[in-house]
Amino acid sequence: MNDESTGSESLIQAGGISQPSLADAARGADAARGAHAARGAPFAPRAALVTGASRGLGAALARELARRGAKVVLVARERAPLEAVAAEIAAQGGVAHALAADIGDKGQTHAIAGAAAALVGPIDLLVHNASTLGRTPLPILLDTECEDLGRVLEVNVVGPFRLTKVIAGAMALRRRGVVVHISSDAAVNAYPRWGAYGASKAALDHLSRTWAAELEGTGVAFYAVDPGEMNTRMHAEAIPDADPSALADPADVARRIVALIGRAGEVPSGARVEAASFEEAP
Ligand SMILES: NC(=O)c1ccc[n+]([C@@H]2O[C@H](COP(=O)([O-])OP(=O)(O)OC[C@H]3O[C@@H](n4cnc5c(N)ncnc54)[C@H](OP(=O)(O)O)[C@@H]3O)[C@@H](O)[C@H]2O)c1
Repeated sequence: MNDESTGSESLIQAGGISQPSLADAARGADAARGAHAARGAPFAPRAALVTGASRGLGAALARELARRGAKVVLVARERAPLEAVAAEIAAQGGVAHALAADIGDKGQTHAIAGAAAALVGPIDLLVHNASTLGRTPLPILLDTECEDLGRVLEVNVVGPFRLTKVIAGAMALRRRGVVVHISSDAAVNAYPRWGAYGASKAALDHLSRTWAAELEGTGVAFYAVDPGEMNTRMHAEAIPDADPSALADPADVARRIVALIGRAGEVPSGARVEAASFEEAP
């Protein structure tokens, strides 16, 4: 199956439903069964796929979700640190699996989604957290190679788009799911030297809004979340002389994002939220 043939298309064919009616089918059945995210009940993820989970915010999210009982699948390129986070979660009594993969590689999308579902069951939470700054030190746009912009878009926008295409159709058919896009204030502010990264995050925000509009009423909620400045490797690579004590701890930000996810039934799908505006989940 090539990447243009999506998981939702497979489901459509398997179920004998014509392609344009996927969202309609989910909405229709929703009247009988109720869309979880539309009903206002707390959302407790059972099976989560978190990209970029070997360090920083992604690792913190994986730990927090596992602590609350979700089975988690962690994705990043480098295997050893990813497996270390998964082992740490398992040692705490959680369920975590490491999948070494490149989100920007079109050929790996179906393998990631298929392996994740095989390991933890149907994914009901997808967190697009993996991200690249592109070349550092960050260049101004006039000095940015088209290929560098292309790679940033591939990892930060196209990769998440492909993975959502494969997974969200199944979420809609089950009328249960949350998709979180980790954004940045660079998506809305034009910071010099952050052009490629900022454009990718602005596009990610808009994808999130559009997914929400198109799948409204299916029980699948989409959010874009600005985590704020955090003390992570990405921040150190972008702004090496920043004072780490002025930056948020990713573990605190993760608890805020998990609080948002828990309120998926109340917070309108398509919202762009700042993590700082959410109380940390206890
Ligand atoms: N830190 C901040 O101040 C800040 C501010 C605003 C927004 N954000 C956003 O918050 C999110 C997390 O950032 P962070 O600061 O935690 O970053 P980080 O510490 O650099 O971690 C990035 C994670 O993404 C993985 N990753 C990178 N490229 C990947 C690829 N092509 N395929 C799969 N995994 C990949 C990395 O592992 P590998 O390298 O092994 O693949 C790592 O696990 C990002 O979306 C970032 O844009 C951060």
